[in-house]
Amino acid sequence: MAEVVSVSMSGDIALVSIDSPPVNAMDQKVRAGLKQAFEQLRTRQGVKAIVLGCKGRTFVAGADIKEFDTGIAPPGYYEVLAAIEDSPCPVVAAVHGTALGGGMEIALACHYRVAHDGARFGLPELTLGIIPGAGGTQRLPRLIPLEAAIDLILSSKPMPAAKARELGLADAVVSGDVAEGALAFARELAARGAGPRRTRDQAVLGAENAAELFETKRAQVAKTMRNRQSPLALLDAIEAAVKLPFDQGLKAESAISDRLVPATEARALRHLFFAEREVRRIPGLSAEVKPRPVTRLGIVGAGTMGGGISMCYANAGVPVTIVDATQAALDKGMATVRKNYERSVARGSLKPEQMEQRMKLLTPSLDYAALGEADLVIEAVYENMALKKEIFAKLDAVVRKGAIIGTNTSTLDIDEIAAVTKRPEDVVGLHFFSPANVMPLLEIVHAKRTAPDVLVTALETAKQIKKTGVVAKVCYGFIGNRMMDPYAREAEHCLLEGATPEQVDGALEQFGMAMGILAVFDMAGVDIGYLTRLERKHLLPDDPTFYRPDTMLNERGWLGQKAGRGYYRYDSARKRIPDPEVVELLWAEGKRLKVEQRKPGTAEIQERCLYAMINEGARLLEEGVALRASDIDVVYTSGYGFPRYRGGPMFYADTVGLKAIYERILEFRRTLDPQYWTPAPLLEMLALAGSSFAAWQAGRGNQGAIST
Ligand SMILES: NC(=O)c1ccc[n+]([C@@H]2O[C@H](COP(=O)([O-])OP(=O)(O)OC[C@H]3O[C@@H](n4cnc5c(N)ncnc54)[C@H](O)[C@@H]3O)[C@@H](O)[C@H]2O)c1
Repeated sequence: MAEVVSVSMSGDIALVSIDSPPVNAMDQKVRAGLKQAFEQLRTRQGVKAIVLGCKGRTFVAGADIKEFDTGIAPPGYYEVLAAIEDSPCPVVAAVHGTALGGGMEIALACHYRVAHDGARFGLPELTLGIIPGAGGTQRLPRLIPLEAAIDLILSSKPMPAAKARELGLADAVVSGDVAEGALAFARELAARGAGPRRTRDQAVLGAENAAELFETKRAQVAKTMRNRQSPLALLDAIEAAVKLPFDQGLKAESAISDRLVPATEARALRHLFFAEREVRRIPGLSAEVKPRPVTRLGIVGAGTMGGGISMCYANAGVPVTIVDATQAALDKGMATVRKNYERSVARGSLKPEQMEQRMKLLTPSLDYAALGEADLVIEAVYENMALKKEIFAKLDAVVRKGAIIGTNTSTLDIDEIAAVTKRPEDVVGLHFFSPANVMPLLEIVHAKRTAPDVLVTALETAKQIKKTGVVAKVCYGFIGNRMMDPYAREAEHCLLEGATPEQVDGALEQFGMAMGILAVFDMAGVDIGYLTRLERKHLLPDDPTFYRPDTMLNERGWLGQKAGRGYYRYDSARKRIPDPEVVELLWAEGKRLKVEQRKPGTAEIQERCLYAMINEGARLLEEGVALRASDIDVVYTSGYGFPRYRGGPMFYADTVGLKAIYERILEFRRTLDPQYWTPAPLLEMLALAGSSFAAWQAGRGNQGAIST
């Protein structure tokens, strides 16, 4: 027997135990072990019931995702689960930790489920663009009401044990040792002489109103999960459970699953799954380099970002000292943090006492000396080079030796900031996104002199506060904002060409962006980009149409939501309302500047914005600002609202085909302003070679390593 699955006896109860750290994933070895165990138990004399449980911290918490690309090695899922379900004596799953995906499907194939009170059950397959493909779509609606089954899988969120008990998914909930609890449950079954209770033999619960229910759910999914195929396919699979006998339902599930696994959506989501793990691997950085501990934090600037970053650390239990220039700014910052926490309390996601604990971890101060004990100080004052230099000189004087000084600058040259200190090796960029306590991305900017252990600490601290840290090198805008620049430039230019803000944002949102870029500017403040451009005026193209709409809105004080109007008008609930005055103003300006009135349609808006962004991404790769194409994808999907189901801009480019994108860029060079449409040499090279960013990345090995 494969050693990951063992069988032992406790009286006349057999205990089948999976032991495959870290999460007992249902890989080939586990499948083979389970099949063998249940086949042997079939014929073993004197077994009255079987308990199936797991060692370690959790029940089976998923499948082996790599197998989706390599193919499923035998025995297959159906075969193994059939062996469990076919057992002639009752099988009790003992569930602790999380029963997720394939693990949940094992539990569904067992005849009874005993759950630890902290256990959770979930089928998160849609997050990978697939459906439960081991009978989950057929068995779940036989155990819990149809609508609850649909909602559980559509939400991808795990369900707590108590809820599972209420719905009938769990037969008992125990505190303490779940194996003991399940054993007692099994003994009782044995004493009663109970036989198997096979899920497949039960009727679907709530099938009476199924037609209506599926219609509602399909309409809902078309709206909330736009452009995606797996949620609709999921509904088809569950509908098969209602309409067909179990075995035929399984066949339907299997056919749907086989269609989804190799489709672009699932490939994109798998790509991100691996890309999000890969970001932590920094080529050229030795595993010997250890992080410095971060147990006390300092923040300079109690504004929007400083407050949000403080919350991240307080949430992780780290004490934070916050310094600002005035008492008024400190008071305002602390009040905002409290208000944010209060909102979570009101929503029920935080307990009042937790809020108080976190607030207690925050110490406001006007004195820089209070930062003397911090392990890491993050500067988040106004985006102004002279001010940042002044602050860094002050910090250099008070911060203890060996502490790290980070800057949250979005655009400024971190090498220049670091140079005012006597310890540039301790300086790193830590670029958070707004709202910092919510957004999962942290761009870690590796400046020229940043020490290897400072970089490792930055990656580690990202993990400490549950963020995805992606390493970039110093350049204007790093990865995210630099690629955003040409994307937004095209969006704004379209306005001068006779498109409305709704058309531009609508095209981007139809593609799947969480929010159109003009609405994003309205939300963040139209002045933010404008002020940055003012600072960099000498570097900008000599083109009166360049970001002209932004400039015009700024001149009028139409700064977006905070002003009640920007590209749109806003009502008191901050709902976007089209503004004909803006449209007229920008169209007239376009004509005055003799901009060709192309009236670009949806496809052209999408292509111009996205291909300009992708072309810039290729430049970042050439320049080594981003280490990998997949890192760019992580930045865009976790920080910029790029649709995950498209895999990020670089993965998306590969799915369109680099040749097609290259040719379209050449066409734009002929028909639009040529200064903006030079294909990046890397894009050109790969396009002409019929290659892709993925192939380029795979062939690179450790090239582009961080030099340390
Ligand atoms: N707001 C965003 O969306 C965002 C996103 C990413 C990065 N950033 C960057 O974060 C930084 C801060 O931005 P913000 O939006 O939080 O600004 P903000 O205006 O909300 O806050 C800046 C804070 O710095 C304080 N400050 C000014 N001078 C100071 C001094 N000498 N000593 C101590 N404190 C001082 C101000 O009183 C204020 O509280 C900027 O570099 C910005 O580019 C902002």
